[in-house]
Formats: sequence, structure tokens, C-alpha cells
Amino acid sequence: MKGKWLSMHPRNRRVIRTDLLQENMQRIRNAVPSGVKVMAVVKADGYGHGAAETARAAIAGGADMLAVAAVAEGSFLRRSGITAPILVLGAVTAADVAEGVENGLIQTVCSPEMLLLCENAASAMNKQTEVHIKIDTGMGRIGVRNGDELKALLESADAADHVRITGAFTHFSDADGDSDGMAYTEKQFSLFRELSGMIPGRILRHCANSAAIHRRPDMAMDMVRAGISLYGYPPVPENDLRLAPCMRWTAKISYIKEVPPGVYISYGRTFRTEKPMRIATVTCGYADGYHRAASGKAEVLIHGKRARILGRICMDQMMADVSDIPEAFPEDEVVLIGQDGSDQITAEDIASWSGTISYEILLSVGSRVERVFEDTEKKGDTHQ
Ligand SMILES: Cc1ncc(COP(=O)(O)O)c(C=O)c1O
Repeated sequence: MKGKWLSMHPRNRRVIRTDLLQENMQRIRNAVPSGVKVMAVVKADGYGHGAAETARAAIAGGADMLAVAAVAEGSFLRRSGITAPILVLGAVTAADVAEGVENGLIQTVCSPEMLLLCENAASAMNKQTEVHIKIDTGMGRIGVRNGDELKALLESADAADHVRITGAFTHFSDADGDSDGMAYTEKQFSLFRELSGMIPGRILRHCANSAAIHRRPDMAMDMVRAGISLYGYPPVPENDLRLAPCMRWTAKISYIKEVPPGVYISYGRTFRTEKPMRIATVTCGYADGYHRAASGKAEVLIHGKRARILGRICMDQMMADVSDIPEAFPEDEVVLIGQDGSDQITAEDIASWSGTISYEILLSVGSRVERVFEDTEKKGDTHQ
């Protein structure tokens, strides 16, 4: 694309398709057994997609509840006008328990001490507060680990007048793994059923993350927690729900040069031209969140064609081989993640070039990368 629009295009930006977020949520919603609630995991700024915008799109697509990692993220959603139930997945802390109660967040407890924190904060405000109990069935992170620990927690709850246990959950550590991983998941699931069965009253029991949503609908229980799949990146090869990536990340060509053989490109002289080449400098580097570890492997799309990134990725720039793309010129768009013509680069691709996972790629896109929200249905653009 060329012309007036491009000249206004910032050096580096991501476009978030809120209509696709909504559609992905609808597809997930339709895939889970009826009567099962769906929680949209919007922690870490909605996996880099914008927490409030993602939350709104997910609710429009049928999400019943939201999940964040920390109280501050939940408070941000409340300040953004979101009234849906919000679970804080991380363990409650003395530092922000009161803010959580104040904002009507559901906090996570794993010990009598944590439950007491909630009780004290709620009673000081003369409020009722909700908690979910975290059960560690094999993740090794947070949660009660056996029946005795759970009993002690339940006893502390009996004595608490301002706390209501409305849910219990566990987290799978290997539901995206091989058959061994699935056997381990099975064990986690059965331990969760056994322990969560000890909790009296009507509560929401939930354990399924994205991998389990795709692979094991029978593990849905009362609610599933959809994270990475909501953003269009199922963590398992099975993408039978046809979920679409919602983030498009682009930069620009800032400079083009023709070089003879024998010229070194970028830091450390890891790339030397062997023939005459045409090389474009691109306005994106690791300060924008493009992983330096992808150096030597990364590719971008320019005019719908693949261009190799040459040498090391710098802090703010990288160099692309446009020898076979004569139509490439300064100001042209460079697609880092997204579709261009008939080709597409995904966060999975960058993850494989840099030895990580799509999650980390999506949420490491830097704060200086402009974020634009687009809904092609409504044809609206909003800038942040
Ligand atoms: C407790 C918990 N539940 C659900 C999720 C969502 O996982 P996924 O993004 O794999 O769906 C996470 C993500 O880390 C999590 O920590």
C-alpha cells in the first residue's frame, strides 16, 4: 500500500481486530458444552491486545467472566467501566487485598492466612467478598496441595462472615503436551475432581485452559478459561475451531541501499554480502519487542513477498533483503505479523525463529508500538 495513508503511518504499529476477538470468543463459546460458562483471560493487557478492548469484545462474543493476573489489572478494567465478574488468578496479597475487595474482584486464596486477609479487608469495609480456592494438582505454582490443606482452608472460611467461596480451580501444566503430558493432565483432572468435591455448596469448578478446551471438552466442568485461543493462537495443532489471529503488526522501510559483495550488515558482522544486494532498513527492533534471538532466521513480508532479515536485529532497526522485491521503497509497509497478499507471518513463526512461544511474542510487543483497534464490521478505527 502506498500514498497519503502510508505517509501518516507511524514507524511501527499493531492493529487489533476487535471483531475477530469477538468472533473467536463466539466460536469458543459454541464449542464448549451447553451450560458451561466461559472465562476470557485478559491478563497481561489482554496478551498485548489491550485489556479493556479485549474484555469488551469477549463479553460481546459471549464470555461470562474475565480473568486477570493481579488486582491492578482488575481495577483497570473496573475504571474502564467493565462490570462483568473478574477473577484475579494470582494469590491474594496483603498489599492489594483491600483494593480487590473495594473493586468487587474475586480473589484467589490458597491458605487460611489468605482467607483471613480477605475477611479482614471485607469486614473493615463492611462488605461481602468472593473468593475462589486454588488447588495445586501438579503445576507446582500456587494452591492447596492436599485434602488436609484444603480442610484447614475450609475451616477458616467457616469462621469468616464476609467471605464467600464461589469457586475452585486448578491449572494444567502440560495439556498441550504429548501423550505423557495428557496422561499427567488426566491425573491432575482426577485429583481436582476429588479435592474440589470436598468443598460444600454450589461453586464454579474450573480447570480447562485453551489446550484442554480444544483437546478435552469433557474436562470443561462448570467453566473453561480461554486465553491464547481467544487471540487466535491455539497452543495445540488442532485449530478445528478456525480461530483467527487478531493482531497485525507492521513497520516501515526507512531507507534502501544497493551494496556490492563483501559488505557487512549489522552488529557483530554476522552477515556479509556475497553478491550485489538491495537492502531495506526497517523501523523495528528489539526495543519494539521484536526478539533479537530471531536474528539470522526472521523474515518479513514486503509487497506480499518474503524478505529475509540480514544480520543481527538492532534495538530500533533491522535490515531486510529486498534484492528480489524491486518495487520496495522507503515508506512502504513491512508486515511483521499478519497477512500480506497470499502469504502470512504469525506470532508462532516469530516464536519458532526466536526459540519461544506465541504468548511471549504477542505480549512483548513494545509500548512505543502504536496500537489501533479496528472493527471491520463497524468500519471504525480508534487510536490509543
Ligand atoms: C490460571 C490460568 N488459567 C488460564 C490461563 C490461560 O491459559 P491459555 O492462554 O493457555 O489458555 C492461564 C494462563 O497462563 C492461567 O495462568
